[in-house]
Amino acid sequence: MTSSTPARPSDSARRRGSARPIAAAGAVTLAVVGTLALASPAAVAAPDKPVVTVVATGGTIAGKATGREAFTSYRAGTYTMDDLLAQLQPEIAEIADVNVIQFGNKGSGGYTISEFYDLTRTVEQALETSDGVIVTTGTDTQEEFAYWLDLTVQSPKPVVTTGAMRPWAAGDSAGEAPVFGADGPANLFTAIRLAASQQTYCFGTVLMLNDEIHAAREVTKGNATMNDTFQTRLVGALGWVAGSDIYLNRAPARVLDCGTDAWATPFDLSTISAGDLPAVEIMYNYQAASGAGIRAFADAGATGIVTAGTGAGGISADASAARRDAVARGVWFVSTTRTGSGAVESTGEGIIAGLDLLPQKARLMLMLTRAFTTDIEQARVWFDTVAAPSFDMSAYADAGPEPTPSEEPTTEEPSGEPTTGEPSEEPSGEPSEEPSGEPTDGPSTDAPTGVTDEPSDTSSSPAGAASGGSSGGPLAFTGAGSVPLVLGVALVLIVSGAAVHGHRRRARHLTMTA
Ligand code: SIN
Repeated sequence: MTSSTPARPSDSARRRGSARPIAAAGAVTLAVVGTLALASPAAVAAPDKPVVTVVATGGTIAGKATGREAFTSYRAGTYTMDDLLAQLQPEIAEIADVNVIQFGNKGSGGYTISEFYDLTRTVEQALETSDGVIVTTGTDTQEEFAYWLDLTVQSPKPVVTTGAMRPWAAGDSAGEAPVFGADGPANLFTAIRLAASQQTYCFGTVLMLNDEIHAAREVTKGNATMNDTFQTRLVGALGWVAGSDIYLNRAPARVLDCGTDAWATPFDLSTISAGDLPAVEIMYNYQAASGAGIRAFADAGATGIVTAGTGAGGISADASAARRDAVARGVWFVSTTRTGSGAVESTGEGIIAGLDLLPQKARLMLMLTRAFTTDIEQARVWFDTVAAPSFDMSAYADAGPEPTPSEEPTTEEPSGEPTTGEPSEEPSGEPSEEPSGEPTDGPSTDAPTGVTDEPSDTSSSPAGAASGGSSGGPLAFTGAGSVPLVLGVALVLIVSGAAVHGHRRRARHLTMTA
């Protein structure tokens, strides 16, 4: 795995000393994060600006409308990224040195899997010389772009996808006749700010739109036309952006593997060619669904089929019969739910549990899995780990860092005095932009009430599936005893967002290997 140098400080080291990138060497050294977080922005020398590369693929963000009011009447993928970025000058130059790769300029749905392969290679190449990459795409399949990159990019540097729900302008250039309330300029500007901040280092790919930051694995487009279209059901967004402040209250669980080989996925595309990526299709189940779709896909040469079943993955009797026939012909199935959230855990001969992956995400995962292994038991392990990275902090139940009374902050009562060296909880020097219009679907839905500890696998348990996706070994809380209380609290907040989920995953593994 590529191991990058710790990110440079950025202008987004901000109030509350919020998360700095994890600078890990070997074991995850979360205490180092805390140490960096304490650095006062003013005390940090600002050497070079971060280098950010925008890989542009088109979409509505580059769309030309038929009129300034024509929110839904436009041609996607019209303006070049150079033209769009010119509209953000000179402000964007204050934040980053921005390079552009015009990868393509069309609607998101027009990209082939072979182009997805090329996109990953392009992003990885850009990350060799950049601190972060933005991929601009149409929003229709942006969640698939994002998850594909999440699964295939091997660098831990920030990758951020963004786009827009309204076309940029109605003129011959992006600078003429701006569309009323176009969201593209703000989304592009904010995505660059986010990547430049390095705050999502080791998060994998994130999607940033409408000031919300979502995990690629979990996000989905939830509305056909509205600006706040992206949602992460059940667990909510990772965070949000308010002006120049970036708030990240959760992290994808793979962040705990930062700095270890376990962080990277097995899907290093430099070891295969685009032609190795097989045909994988999706069958949507519904009342009395015919098995004709599955039969047709198998006849057409699909090596994998994802079923988007009802409830916990059910498919009709005819579809089930067709699946049995296809399995006998060597087709692998992944069972998912059409409900939009919740985990499908049932497995069977030739059938892999898709857990809580959305069908369109499971399809990409299955495609990569089929390209990298012929062993379905290995595939099960990858679906259970790579595709479902999960927190599991149980190792700390006995060995975790527990502050002793003597290490607690003792006599420093803040008593309303202005602070001196330590960062304050209060945004003292900031304009007090109280978020009157804050996003409301953030972490408030964090409580994963639908997650249970119930193991329901009854067959095909992978013999080697003993370890969770993010349990690459004991974590080292280096010097945790001296970490100030505020850091401890911050760490608990980050981890607790998914800790319950982690328990479910652990219970599942234990059952499978029993
Ligand atoms: C597209 O996905 O290319 C069109 C729709 C959009 O960008 O919002």
